[in-house]
Amino acid sequence: MTYSERYLHLEEKIDIDSHVLCRYRIKTERMSIKEAAAAIATEQSTGTWTDLVTLKDEIFEKYGAKVVEIKGNEASIAFPEDDFSIDVGGVPQILSVIAGNLFGLADIDGVRLEDVIFPPGILKQFKGPKFGIGGLRKILDRPEKPLVGTIVKPKIGLSPKETAEYILECGRGGLTNSKDDETLVNQEFCPIEERTVAIAEALDTLKDEGRRMVHAINVSTSGHRILELAERVQELGALEIMVDVLTCGFGAVQALAEDPSIKVPIHVHRTMHGAITRNPEHGISMLPFTKLVRMCGGDALHIGSLGVGKMRGTKKEDLANRDACIDSTVPYKPVMPVCSGGLHPGMVKKIVEIAGKDVQIQAGGGVAGHPGGIRKGAMAMSQAVDASFQGIELSQYAKKHKELMDALNKWGCL
Ligand code: 3PG
Ligand code: MG
Repeated sequence: MTYSERYLHLEEKIDIDSHVLCRYRIKTERMSIKEAAAAIATEQSTGTWTDLVTLKDEIFEKYGAKVVEIKGNEASIAFPEDDFSIDVGGVPQILSVIAGNLFGLADIDGVRLEDVIFPPGILKQFKGPKFGIGGLRKILDRPEKPLVGTIVKPKIGLSPKETAEYILECGRGGLTNSKDDETLVNQEFCPIEERTVAIAEALDTLKDEGRRMVHAINVSTSGHRILELAERVQELGALEIMVDVLTCGFGAVQALAEDPSIKVPIHVHRTMHGAITRNPEHGISMLPFTKLVRMCGGDALHIGSLGVGKMRGTKKEDLANRDACIDSTVPYKPVMPVCSGGLHPGMVKKIVEIAGKDVQIQAGGGVAGHPGGIRKGAMAMSQAVDASFQGIELSQYAKKHKELMDALNKWGCL
């Protein structure tokens, strides 16, 4: 038996309630899949590349990870709950165990963390979303229909006044949501405080007209300033904030969600995820990230464009993210799944068919690219959602809704 083979427990039944169970897809040419899985379990728990005089049997037995299943090129590894920090919600330490050094092991050609299941003891360290689907629907007074939103485009360059006018047009066209794009935070052409005030005024005007809409202000910034910035924009009238979770870190989402001073929903963008999620042979799938965002308290999360829009990602993978957003076996409110990226009105029916009604459908180019302008673009998106919600074909609905017809004529219909 090699040193690492001690970590193979393929015949053993483990207690799922006291382990973190990870599924890895492994690519290995120089080692067998068993050896590679054992090397991962070794490195990520009590071992290293050689045997250790300090590794007492009781340490190995209590804290050693166990390879519990090998199926084709996938291995499931169970990490004892005691391997994890008892700090309240330590995502950095969790990631360091389940998704740390293993990716750099030279003898393994590729590893992808496909999924993770956390036991109740770890789940209870986290609080989950404050608002989630139900909270967002309540704020918007939209109990059943999919939420329909936009991303202000171009993603950079508009002034606060232009941004606010854009949002006003979107609200008048029937949209429920809008958001800053992921690269806009506090540039000179659009200072965040000025933008927030201008948008708050636009949202107030819409409210006076009987329309409910929220806009997520992007507060993605350095760790020591994010809470202060979120509090500031909230004070200035922001009704939602946005965080780029992978560039800011899960701790940023958690800090905002758990701070009692933050009283608005958190929209979570996943910019940069493709660097980690895209390669099927190496990296981390979106699914563990989705689970962690929910644990940390994101209220809405980008899950992909369901194989329909411009973002890479299969329908199956994106639906797994959707399922993790709403999974009722975890003790948190469900997260609003956000479908975004290259969408236009002609895709909406397909998206609703795939994702159901608990989804936020967003289009940037698909609103601002409408031949009739922003308001008509918003109307076309909103009409497409109304038609899809009622199960009416878009081409049929478009006969009496010119804005939708113009959009279908420009971009087509799936
Ligand atoms: C996003 O942040 O989701 C994208 O900016 C979507 O923009 P698009 O609808 O123009 O592709
Ligand atoms: Mg964007």
